[in-house]
Amino acid sequence: MKPYLIALSLASALLVAYCSEEKKPAEQTPVQMPPEAAQGKEIYIAQNCNGCHGETGLGDGPAGQTLNPKPRNYRDIYAYRKGSSLDQIAAMLESGLEGSPMKGYPHLTLEKRKLLAAYVVWLQKQP
Ligand code: HEC
Repeated sequence: MKPYLIALSLASALLVAYCSEEKKPAEQTPVQMPPEAAQGKEIYIAQNCNGCHGETGLGDGPAGQTLNPKPRNYRDIYAYRKGSSLDQIAAMLESGLEGSPMKGYPHLTLEKRKLLAAYVVWLQKQP
């Protein structure tokens, strides 16, 4: 192989390596939270849902450790007793779950319960 060909292939190999290197940060950027979910997160923290469910909804909050049944891990779609959709969660939040440490939040407006539900639904799809 002629020296200039070796140099050329080396240069293109470096270029390919450089380009694929460049792409990585963009791929790793987390999906942005929709505004309703972001507002819901604020209420979630203010109402201390995270105390039982954990900040990212894995069911691992400090106050939930000794509870039986355990606080729901929101990603566990099939475990929801009252359904896992936004409207079902917003409705459940009014009355809570019967015979369970998951009490109702009837003092919150439907609008606020829907924002909370939007955050829960967003967390369902997070790793
Ligand atoms: C005292 C601890 C505690 C707090 C505070 C709490 N939860 Fe729960 N939550 C639980 C437990 C325990 C369960 C599971 C109950 C069961 O399976 O009977 C649950 C279940 C749920 C479920 C699943 C409902 C279903 O249909 O099965 C959702 C959604 C939920 N909580 C959202 C919330 C939100 C939003 C808040 C704050 C407004 C909140 N929780 C506050 C303990 C708590």
